[in-house]
Formats: sequence, structure tokens, C-alpha cells
Amino acid sequence: MKITFYGHSCFLIELNNKKLITDPFISDNPLAKKIEVDKIKTDYVLISHGHEDHIADALQIAKNNNATVISNFEIINWLTAKGVKKTFSMNIGGKHIFDFGTLTILSASHSSILPDGTYGGNPTGFLIESQENNFYFAGDTGLNYDMKLIGEYKKINFAFLPVGGTYTMDADDAIIASDFIKCDKIIGMHYNTFPVINIDKKSAMDKFKQYGKELILMNIGETIKF
Ligand code: NI
Ligand code: MN
Repeated sequence: MKITFYGHSCFLIELNNKKLITDPFISDNPLAKKIEVDKIKTDYVLISHGHEDHIADALQIAKNNNATVISNFEIINWLTAKGVKKTFSMNIGGKHIFDFGTLTILSASHSSILPDGTYGGNPTGFLIESQENNFYFAGDTGLNYDMKLIGEYKKINFAFLPVGGTYTMDADDAIIASDFIKCDKIIGMHYNTFPVINIDKKSAMDKFKQYGKELILMNIGETIKF
């Protein structure tokens, strides 16, 4: 599988010959200026919660690609009213088999309101299990004990965790989270987009190393293969 980073919490994931994009926030992200939203090709758009910095480009990307948006019930209703045709609404604990793999919606410790003030339901994360890899996309979240359920009952190869602090957990808590989920390979997200979530990348990666773990902080536009 391949993963390309588009900044903040937005990744293009190529899995089982399908493309999934997470939490698109590109056109208003000053760090992602070189990424052209209209050139992005995807089959699915995954939205973890309603905040602007996770949904800003969802409508445009979904419409451009006639892609299927997967999110909670409230966010899907909001996008449907805005003209998105292909959707799949789920809620926490729900599981569905898609052509890329099995996706389970998990809880996140955060909030969720849509950019126009509409209620955005509960914030979520995703667990994806497939023939190629199993992984967890935490969304915006603080450290929480529910993550232990992943470690106890699932086997994941890597996880996307927020590391920027202030609105989510920071690198120190992400190290504890990686213990909870029993996964030592972490792709960091939700850092450096705004001054209040700036991190020292080297010291965050070094901390992970101290615990025998790996924190991958991708460059915007970079692709890695798993
Ligand atoms: Ni948020
Ligand atoms: Mn956010």
C-alpha cells in the first residue's frame, strides 16, 4: 500500500487498488500550497469529525471524483444536503465491509461541529482491516482508555495519531497511546499547521526512539510505501 501526505490530517491511502483520502484540509492550509485539490484522484473520502480543518475540501473532492464519503450520520446528512451523491453513513462501533477492506468507526475524545454551526455528531476515528495491512486513524483525540480495546482485540501494523497538542494529544501522550494500541509504528498528524500546534519534530521523533518506537513525520507531498 502507498500513503501520500497532504498536510494536517489529510492522507491519500492506496489500498487494494482503491484510493481513500482522510480529512481533506488543503486549500486553506498555508503549508499545503503546492497541492492542487482539483488534481486529487480518490474513490473514497473519510471524514472523522465536522471541524473545518478536517472537512474544508471534502465537498469539492467528493464531487470532482464522484467519490463515496464515509462518515457519521450527521456529517453525511450535511454533505448530502450540499449535493454529495455517494455516501455511506455509519456510527461509533459500526463496521462495514468495503471493497478496500473492513472499516470500523471508533470513538474519539474530542468535539464535532460543522463549519456553519450545524451539529456534527460525535467525533470518530477509523480502524481499517484489509489483506494488505491493518491500521488505525485516530482523528482528533486526546489519549483515552478505549484505545486499549484495539491493543487487546486487534492486530494493527501502523497507526495515524495526532501529535500537535493543544486540541489533541501531544507526542508524549501518543507514546502512551501506542502502548495502548500495541503498535510501535506511528505516522504523526495534526501538528505545525497553526502556531499553537507547532512541535519540535526532531525531539518528538527522538522521544519515540527512546521507547523503541518509530514516529514518522512525512513531508507534505511525500509518498511512502508499506
Ligand atoms: Ni477537531
Ligand atoms: Mn482538528
